[in-house]
Amino acid sequence: MRIKYTISIVFFVALQFHLTFSITPISFQIPQTPLQSSGSSHILLKHNGSLTTLSRRHILLLATTRTGSSFVGEFFNQQGDNMFYLFEPLWHVERMLTLETGGTNATAAARAYRDVLQQLFLCDFTLLESFIDPPPVDHITTGLFRRESSSSLCEESVCSPFIKGVFERYHCRTRRCGPLNLTMASESCLQKEHRVIKSVRVRQLETLRPLAEDPRLDVKFIQLVRDPRAVLASRMVAFAAKYKNWKQWAMDGDVPIDDDEVRKLKGNCDNIRMSAEVGLRQPPWLRRRYMLVRYEDIARFPMRKATEMYRFAGIPLAPQVKSWILKNTQASKEASGVYSTQKNSSEQVEKWRFSLPFKIAQVVQKVCGPTLKLFGYKFVNSEEMLTDRSISLIDEKVFSFV
Ligand SMILES: *[C@@H]1O[C@H](CO)[C@@H](O)[C@H](O)[C@H]1NC(C)=O
Ligand SMILES: *[C@@H]1O[C@H](CO)[C@@H](O)[C@H](O)[C@H]1NC(C)=O
Ligand SMILES: *[C@@H]1O[C@H](CO)[C@@H](O)[C@H](O)[C@H]1NC(C)=O
Ligand SMILES: *[C@@H]1O[C@H](CO)[C@@H](O)[C@H](O)[C@H]1NC(C)=O
Repeated sequence: MRIKYTISIVFFVALQFHLTFSITPISFQIPQTPLQSSGSSHILLKHNGSLTTLSRRHILLLATTRTGSSFVGEFFNQQGDNMFYLFEPLWHVERMLTLETGGTNATAAARAYRDVLQQLFLCDFTLLESFIDPPPVDHITTGLFRRESSSSLCEESVCSPFIKGVFERYHCRTRRCGPLNLTMASESCLQKEHRVIKSVRVRQLETLRPLAEDPRLDVKFIQLVRDPRAVLASRMVAFAAKYKNWKQWAMDGDVPIDDDEVRKLKGNCDNIRMSAEVGLRQPPWLRRRYMLVRYEDIARFPMRKATEMYRFAGIPLAPQVKSWILKNTQASKEASGVYSTQKNSSEQVEKWRFSLPFKIAQVVQKVCGPTLKLFGYKFVNSEEMLTDRSISLIDEKVFSFV
């Protein structure tokens, strides 16, 4: 089996080598690779003709807003030259669907999310382009959401010349770049060893099953969760206008339990829990492809959790990721804005206990009870317990996977 396999590879490489000698590196996929059970194997032809096997990884970081997903996404974004990282590409899809249909058709949205993600993992921006508004012209856009949050969209090969006076505001991390040429982005993506996409918009893991079953991808999912009480407290600050009812109820000390907003909270909690239940159940299509991570654990043990996530992903943890984590989890630097990731993470993670009124915490416990239980978040039964720092609200819990 092995010998036969080797022979066929050598033959294929020889053929490729002959046809495309001048284009290096060449990276192509071996169908149904028997060498490794996980990770699509690729043969990389180096300039000097030597062969190196590498495994391309596709990781989807799934979360909801205010769960620390920008921070955790940065763990992968900092990986460097071998990583293509995209920050919330589905923002465009959600926005377009909301404008066009009010965003009420969850089935249609789930399909669009799934199809866009599938293409993006293959470095194809075509479908995403159809959701960008205004539409890109000749694959050029100034409107990609948070481009500067992706190192790979700001590196030199993707940075078209900056024209003074035209796009003055376009700061792309350490560079000033002109509008984004998505063809260049796609070319850069194809050169990268690994691809990671972060999204807070996928509602049900189950809807992504076709991605898990796509042999070109060998995709892995990391679901990031956080205490729903902390999430609500954080949203009430970050999305003040949208959460004005909650703020009013917090002041009144009274919550109309059958209000739409409360139902929405319950719906969100149920979606997160059901996704996790599917993942933890490990159906065949998800075997070795799902990992559950609590933000609280990342905040308390960032290096340990980063190491676990990278091990699960099958990617060696780069030194620059380690130093980024050290720099951004210890320093009690001045936080700059609500999206800041530079905070003393173990301190931040408990802050909500002093801003969320007990009444509101009780409501969350009532409608999100099963979610709290599944993830190991302790219920509080008094104002005193809520604000007593010596009582941990996090059960030490290990979620088995792999
Ligand atoms: C070819 O280059 C790779 C590094 O790109 C190196 O590891 C390998 O030893 C080289 N092989 C030969 C035959 O020079
Ligand atoms: C929602 O979208 C799906 C898939 O596009 C479609 O089949 C269905 O008819 C839509 N439902 C409504 C109520 O528009
Ligand atoms: C965008 O990039 C592609 C690939 O590098 C190039 O062929 C194309 O001319 C670029 N488009 C523009 C408008 O510069
Ligand atoms: C971060 O916060 C925790 C909890 O308040 C504290 O014990 C720790 O010393 C802080 N670390 C730094 C570097 O400020």
